[in-house]
Amino acid sequence: MTRPVHTWLQDLGVRHPIFAAPMAGGPSTPELVAAVSNAGGLGFLGVGYLSPEETRAAIRRVRQITHAPFGVNVFIPEKPQGDARHAVQAMKRWLREWVDGQAVAAEIDDVNPHLPTINEFDAQMSVIIDERVPVLSFTFGCPEGDAIARWKQAGMCVMGTATSPEEAMALERAGCDAVIAQGYEAGGHRGSFLPIDETRLIGTMALVPQVVDRVSIPVIAAGGIMDGRGIVACLALGAAAVQMGTRFLLADESGAPPAYKRAVMAWRDRGTALTRSFSGKHARGIRNAFMEAVDREDLDIPPYPLQNALTQPIRRRAAAEEDAERMSLWAGQGYPMAKPMPAGEIVRELVQQMEHVMSLLREADAR
Ligand SMILES: Cc1cc2nc3c(=O)[nH]c(=O)nc-3n(C[C@H](O)[C@H](O)[C@H](O)COP(=O)(O)O)c2cc1C
Repeated sequence: MTRPVHTWLQDLGVRHPIFAAPMAGGPSTPELVAAVSNAGGLGFLGVGYLSPEETRAAIRRVRQITHAPFGVNVFIPEKPQGDARHAVQAMKRWLREWVDGQAVAAEIDDVNPHLPTINEFDAQMSVIIDERVPVLSFTFGCPEGDAIARWKQAGMCVMGTATSPEEAMALERAGCDAVIAQGYEAGGHRGSFLPIDETRLIGTMALVPQVVDRVSIPVIAAGGIMDGRGIVACLALGAAAVQMGTRFLLADESGAPPAYKRAVMAWRDRGTALTRSFSGKHARGIRNAFMEAVDREDLDIPPYPLQNALTQPIRRRAAAEEDAERMSLWAGQGYPMAKPMPAGEIVRELVQQMEHVMSLLREADAR
């Protein structure tokens, strides 16, 4: 017998406490979202890099292939801090030298990175509201003013991402319905928005109970959760559900490029690192040549999303040439446990594993 699903999830129409993390930039295709939601979990579309038109098309595609509830995830635009022009020029020079004479050097020269404007974000949010999306999550910030209240009024269940108890409390105060507690182990970008020193980053096991104790809204655990054992552990820590990204990276429906998927399977001993090298914002991925080259130098890395734009030609070319040493291979610390399978099967396997772990715990308790 499965642990009763949190009533809050039942109200949303979600049968299992398993969310497939939004994975913007390719992995979270509408097909992946729909497969997870159809299997009783909650699929999440990551639209952080999409235009309003692309966002609408992706949401409509999800709706064509599932009637189940699903979520959409956005990036809160950040305010530019200081003048990054010098760092941008210096980084362009360094990147050109690193690619050393390759055709991609000219593309790096042509990049004119810009910060997303509030207008672009508002246009994307108008589409999401207009499309009557049931669940909205966001990362990289805490929206100001009455934004969350307006999104809730539009009928959406709204969740924000926190990497510390302080951020979780700020999101609760701002009106979120639930909070995603993202631990240090997590793959992809950290959702941090309050200053925290890099030596204090908190792992999922320590973060989740602290957040549960300090907020009264449901908490979703994220980071390093790869199987039923991890899910049951997070439920025991007080989470209402888990959000798993890396576990779904190798799903048949995942849009991660083939070279990325092969690296996740073949480079099991390389480990991951937190790096700003690809995007200017801390993110966890499998170590590779590009990450190590940038991190070795004492470079002034332009802030997100400027560095993301500067490295895009290298990443795009690398994906086309199937060169995983130059791609951003976002993955959590648990990536050696990822397996290629249809996404619906992953959800079913996770549910079976949870049931098995819980029956073992009950047996141990009865002895
Ligand atoms: C490839 C990849 C892309 C991600 N993209 C997003 C995103 O667009 N929005 C977001 O809120 N989180 C994103 N994340 C982070 C996840 O929401 C989640 O915190 C993380 O996957 C949990 O850790 P795990 O990968 O160990 O399961 C991404 C993670 C990965 C691995």
